[in-house]
Amino acid sequence: MKDDLSPVKIEFVNFGVSYRSEKAGSPPLSALENVALKVYDKRILSVIGPSRSGKTSLLRSINRLNDLHASFEHSGEIFIDGAPVYGGADTDVTELRRKAGMVFARPVVLPLSIYENIAYGPRLMGRSSKSELDATVETALKDAYLWEEVKDRLGSPAAALSGGQRQRLCIARVLGMRSGIIMLDEPTSALDPVSTAKIEETLTALKNKYCVILVTNNVKQAARVGDETAFFLMGKLIEYGDTAKIFTTPRDERTENYITGRFG
Ligand SMILES: Nc1ncnc2c1ncn2[C@@H]1O[C@H](COP(=O)(O)OP(=O)(O)OP(=O)(O)O)[C@@H](O)[C@H]1O
Ligand SMILES: [Mg+2]
Repeated sequence: MKDDLSPVKIEFVNFGVSYRSEKAGSPPLSALENVALKVYDKRILSVIGPSRSGKTSLLRSINRLNDLHASFEHSGEIFIDGAPVYGGADTDVTELRRKAGMVFARPVVLPLSIYENIAYGPRLMGRSSKSELDATVETALKDAYLWEEVKDRLGSPAAALSGGQRQRLCIARVLGMRSGIIMLDEPTSALDPVSTAKIEETLTALKNKYCVILVTNNVKQAARVGDETAFFLMGKLIEYGDTAKIFTTPRDERTENYITGRFG
């Protein structure tokens, strides 16, 4: 299990998500129920579970991307570094989304150069000196394991990169914003095995500096990459703990059935 050097970065306390139905009179759809979960800094948490088990809802609740859905409702609380994500009257949602950056399944880049894909966000936040932006871009690309492949063509369109490279650029974009939390929602589902292996290698290196949450529909990937693993089923956290333990001696029969491919 974790060592004592990794502090709790995110804590879910009795957290729930539901989406109000569009149809008048229909009950709201419950997507997450009574989630109690600690996510540690400088670790990778793998989140697994079948379709519609609430994995994406969990991620999007952390940086309040779910607020963009009018039907979204939450209960309970999430704390980041001890501060409430929902309860704090003065929560700065823009700042929250900077702190907890997101990488999606499709590697969508901005229609700009490789350099500008990373520099764009920091510049908007007022970090505009050329030397600082150059340093930010270089560090982000190095940490995303992309620097060697692109350092001679930073001014070229990002759209010309391969899918796997674009996904690493999406990771670099989050790093350039100095996010402490990197959330990835099935980041390799559109990639070939070689590109997938590169992303996994990148994530494993990133955990030296960041808190990483990886939602994946690939249980082998969860086992390879995660320090801890959380298994969700129909909105409930069924089992959570040390990845090796979950994959060798799961406590719950439903976890075992899922990781051995009997459903999902
Ligand atoms: N914006 C929304 N409005 C209404 N219902 C939603 C919304 N987003 C998710 N849901 C519902 O919440 C439940 C959980 O969905 P969620 O996307 O969190 O699951 P998931 O585990 O990420 O699934 P998948 O593996 O298919 O991506 C589902 O029943 C889904 O239909
Ligand atoms: Mg999802």
